[in-house]
Formats: sequence, C-alpha cells, structure tokens
Amino acid sequence: MNEIIAIYPGSFDPLTNGHVDIIQRGSRLFDRIVIAVLINVDKAPLFTVSERVEITREAFRGVANVEVDTFDGLLVAYARRRHASVIVRGLRAVSDFEYEMQMALMNRHLNADVETVFMMPAEPYTYVSSRLVKEVVALGGSVHGLVPESVELRLRDKKLARETLRA
Ligand code: PNS
Repeated sequence: MNEIIAIYPGSFDPLTNGHVDIIQRGSRLFDRIVIAVLINVDKAPLFTVSERVEITREAFRGVANVEVDTFDGLLVAYARRRHASVIVRGLRAVSDFEYEMQMALMNRHLNADVETVFMMPAEPYTYVSSRLVKEVVALGGSVHGLVPESVELRLRDKKLARETLRA
C-alpha cells in the first residue's frame, strides 16, 4: 500500500507548543509528516528560515516519520513534488475558520487530489499564536510552557540582542 504523506505548512515564526501538538497528532495519523517552512520574502520575520528549520529539527530529532523542509511558491505544487496527498492545518478557534476554509478551497481548486485535514490542538494551546508569543516577549512577559524550551531561550537572546543594540 502507498504511504500517506502529509505536509504541515506554515511560517513557524516561531514554532509554538500548539504547532508541536499538531505535528505529534499528525505523526500518529500519517505515515510521514513534512513540516514545510514557508520562505516568505515579503514578511520581515523574527527568525530566519534557517533558524526556524533548526528549531523544528531540534524539536523532532529522533522522530522517524517527521521531516523538516522549506518551500516557496504554490503549496499544492510543493505537495505534488513531495507526493503528498494531505495538507494539515491546525484550527484553534472559529476565528481561524474563514481564512483556513478559503485556503483549503483554493488549494482544492488548484489540485483536487490534495485533501486539507484540520486538527485541533490540545485545549491549553487554543489561544497560542506565534504573533502573540512575539508580542508578549517583546513587552517583557513570559511564554514559558507555550513554546519549546529552545524557542524560549532563543527569544530571550533576540530580545537581549535588540536591547543591547538600542542601549
Ligand atoms: O503559518 P501561516 O503563516 O498561517 O501559513 C500560511 C501558509 C504557509 C500555509 C500559506 O501562506 C501558504 O500556503 N502559502 C503558499 C502560497 C500558496 O500556495 N497560495 C495559494 C493557495 S491559498
């Protein structure tokens, strides 16, 4: 039987425990899950693509069916190149739904062979987003327990580096 390959695409700037939770669920459901970090030239990310790949590889080191890769261009074209039949997306709240539905239906329009599968993270992560994590850290708050430890340390380093530059 053919193995089912799923792509979990995103910005992951930075990886949160909500992402980790979805990846763990996906790795139990699919034969292989490829975390695909978007190379987005328009945005000004906090972490470089290489840093985001490194963080994600560190978090899933030793998990045989989880792979980390980067992509640009159309997601469905990348999925086709990777022989993936599933796109995984996390749904935290109703507010996520409209954007996610638009993307899922556009992707289906572009390639009907790829199915989007939505998964809900564990309840403690339903309010966690990369955007809020960055905001809280920038304003001096704690994100302990909401991101992997390595991300917490790197966020602290980035904040210190910025403060030193400003001083
Ligand atoms: O973590 P994010 O920022 O919500 O992820 C968004 C992502 C990477 C899934 C989305 O921007 C994307 O799929 N980009 C690739 C471009 C594309 O295929 N666009 C057309 C279909 S919607």
